[in-house]
Amino acid sequence: MPFDSTGKISFDHIYTAPDPRPFYGTLRRVGYEIPQLAKPYFEKLIAEHHAEQPTVLDVGCSYGVNAALRRCDTTMDGLYRHYTDPEVLALDHTRLVEADRARVGGPGGARFYGLDASAPALEYALSAGFLDEAIHADFERHEPDSAQRKLLDDVDLVVSTGCVGYVTEKTLQRIARGSRPWMAHFVLRMFSYQPVADRLAELGYDTAAVGGVFRQRRFASAEEQAQILGTLTAAGVDPAGLESEGWLYARLYVSRPDGAAADLAAALESSEEEGTP
Ligand SMILES: C[S@@+](CC[C@H](N)C(=O)[O-])C[C@H]1O[C@@H](n2cnc3c(N)ncnc32)[C@H](O)[C@@H]1O
Repeated sequence: MPFDSTGKISFDHIYTAPDPRPFYGTLRRVGYEIPQLAKPYFEKLIAEHHAEQPTVLDVGCSYGVNAALRRCDTTMDGLYRHYTDPEVLALDHTRLVEADRARVGGPGGARFYGLDASAPALEYALSAGFLDEAIHADFERHEPDSAQRKLLDDVDLVVSTGCVGYVTEKTLQRIARGSRPWMAHFVLRMFSYQPVADRLAELGYDTAAVGGVFRQRRFASAEEQAQILGTLTAAGVDPAGLESEGWLYARLYVSRPDGAAADLAAALESSEEEGTP
């Protein structure tokens, strides 16, 4: 498999299939679990927000993974089992969508919008009922158009897993300009969140890190691990006892426009026990 410019394996081919089966089939093999660990933190974030039914924008949502975990009241293991079940693998596209729609019905209380550069992933997430609205865009390269801006104006909370790195401060600042939503991003330790914090600060945000580290996935190979250990060391991040043991790790950052990021981080930290494997 090819590597991207940061030394990580490139999984790009699984993000653009017409349905999520290649995505889950591939990520299961590397133990991708960050959306599962993020789930209790996003629940707490929704509960902490004052809106009765907040609108959550999942950046780099792919096939609506974080929304599906909530709406299908399931786990990453549950999604992995479902999408690799031989009976599910045998379904045609229409039947798979029907089967997935039948799984939706978990906790309400939040609207889910998804932003992604992959049109097929978004189309699937919408048709399966995981997302209420989709924004197909690359805000690294373009400003939101008027229709996208209108959707961004609805957003109360912005979340992401496995996405910062693909998207940078450019995307997050463009999103923040709308309704100035709260943000919570799980970010691999190999990426600095400081450029995001700095650009959001220009809009009056402050940022805090939630305590703890979160396993994202196993390295796909010894070669990938060696490259990432080099990237971490060059960035001044000590991989000893974490990435040196075979897993990539993320941290959780929250940003708020009202001077209360530290309070939010403290409130989310009470989710930590639930989120630890
Ligand atoms: C590693 S996947 C993470 C998917 C999901 N959030 C999860 O944790 O399972 C990264 C996602 O970011 C999307 N992506 C990459 N570049 C992007 C960009 N510039 N804007 C929006 N989405 C992007 C990809 O299409 C892919 O769906």
